Amino acid sequence: MIFENIITSLHGEGERKTGLITLNRPKQLNALNDALMDELGSALRAFDADAGIGCIVITGSEKAFAAGADISAMAKFNLTDTYGSDFITRNWETIRSIRKPVIAAVAGFALGGGCELAMMCDFIIAADTAKFGQPEIKLGIIPGAGGTQRLPRAVGKAKAMDMVLTGRMMDATEAERTGLVSRVVPLAELMSVALAAAQSINELSGMSVMMAKESVNRAFEGTLADGVMFERRLFHSLFATVDQKEGMDAFLNKRKPVFVQR
Ligand code: HXC
Repeated sequence: MIFENIITSLHGEGERKTGLITLNRPKQLNALNDALMDELGSALRAFDADAGIGCIVITGSEKAFAAGADISAMAKFNLTDTYGSDFITRNWETIRSIRKPVIAAVAGFALGGGCELAMMCDFIIAADTAKFGQPEIKLGIIPGAGGTQRLPRAVGKAKAMDMVLTGRMMDATEAERTGLVSRVVPLAELMSVALAAAQSINELSGMSVMMAKESVNRAFEGTLADGVMFERRLFHSLFATVDQKEGMDAFLNKRKPVFVQR
């Protein structure tokens, strides 16, 4: 596929590869406009549908993962443009429907919609240069792609209120301490660490990986009792797969499993 605002590439060894999506509007610090988000949605859907892909990584540049929604595109919007056209819903929700794991590899600024995009991924690996923030309040608006909902779930109410109400940035150390990111690594190692994490996922049984993702996501919706029951049923169903037999047999016979994705 030919894109103008993102670059896609395949990485890794073995039968299942990693689909890497690099946001690529460097002059605008990867500000997220409709064209970029449409391309991101297309690339995500294509990778999700490709049996040769096990995991997806989204990254930006060294300076910016993404500095937010494109302010120049939004500046003249009125209520008809936003509410009337259901601004952002069209192409921002695609990532939520992706069933394979999506890792955000973040260096530099992840602000506003950029922070929200990173939080929509399954987990975030950050370079030590990463800076996260929801500065929308300084523009006279509020986060519009889930920031007020996902940030408190990730870092708790006090930190989320601080970030959303003051618009200040959080550095990588604070982001790891508060649970926004899973790991912080030196900038030079960001892509090798993120691609290695993806590669380790590629080597697993894809059905157990997708069910694990579905089950963890369920923890953020509904009650604990419902979530535990949902997990139990997915757990039960994995005993119908060839890969469960293989995984357990390999362990018992002290060998590396060879998963067949069935
Ligand atoms: C459009 C942007 C942009 C953005 C940066 N640029 N962020 N253009 N939308 N969100 C452009 C600048 O205008 C500038 O263009 C170029 O990128 C480089 O940016 P500088 O400001 O010169 O760089 P620097 O001084 O290093 O500052 C970096 C920065 C700053 C701190 C990230 O650019 C900044 O504060 N950006 C805005 C961040 C923000 O408010 N994000 C939230 C947006 S609202 P020129 O042409 O001058 O070189 C949002 C709502 C989401 O995300 C709602 C759901 C979708």
